[in-house]
Amino acid sequence: MQYSAKVMDHFTNPRNVGEIEDASGVGTVGNAKCGDIMRVYLDIDDGGFIKDVKFKTFGCGAAVATSSMATELIKGKHINEALKLTNRSVMDALDGLPAVKVHCSVLAEEAVRAALWDYSEKNGITIEGLEKPVDDIHDSHHEDLHEDD
Ligand code: FES
Repeated sequence: MQYSAKVMDHFTNPRNVGEIEDASGVGTVGNAKCGDIMRVYLDIDDGGFIKDVKFKTFGCGAAVATSSMATELIKGKHINEALKLTNRSVMDALDGLPAVKVHCSVLAEEAVRAALWDYSEKNGITIEGLEKPVDDIHDSHHEDLHEDD
């Protein structure tokens, strides 16, 4: 299996690892098939900008790399921008993933969306285009992997 230099970099030196106390939103998703779990913490300011983001991943190397990249891509962004993050954009930023590892990037996308959902629920706000997340991405409609995006 061939990993890009960027994947190796984010796997060996992941960014934004950790947790945020009293986070604005926390999202946890898993994939029952491989058993991997990812949790994303968001610190969002009053203007809707993501001041800080951290993650914990109990999973494979590609899951670590995709969560690391996903957090980098949404840090400092407005929640509406963060919502546009897709597994495809994470993969592109990492110069691709082997086909059997594509689902790891879906986990990263879903963890971010789950954290945004938690934030919207806690604050009673609606984020346009955000749907209720699933706990297990394996059986979700996101298995189509956004190939057409
Ligand atoms: Fe399942 Fe990577 S093998 S997230």
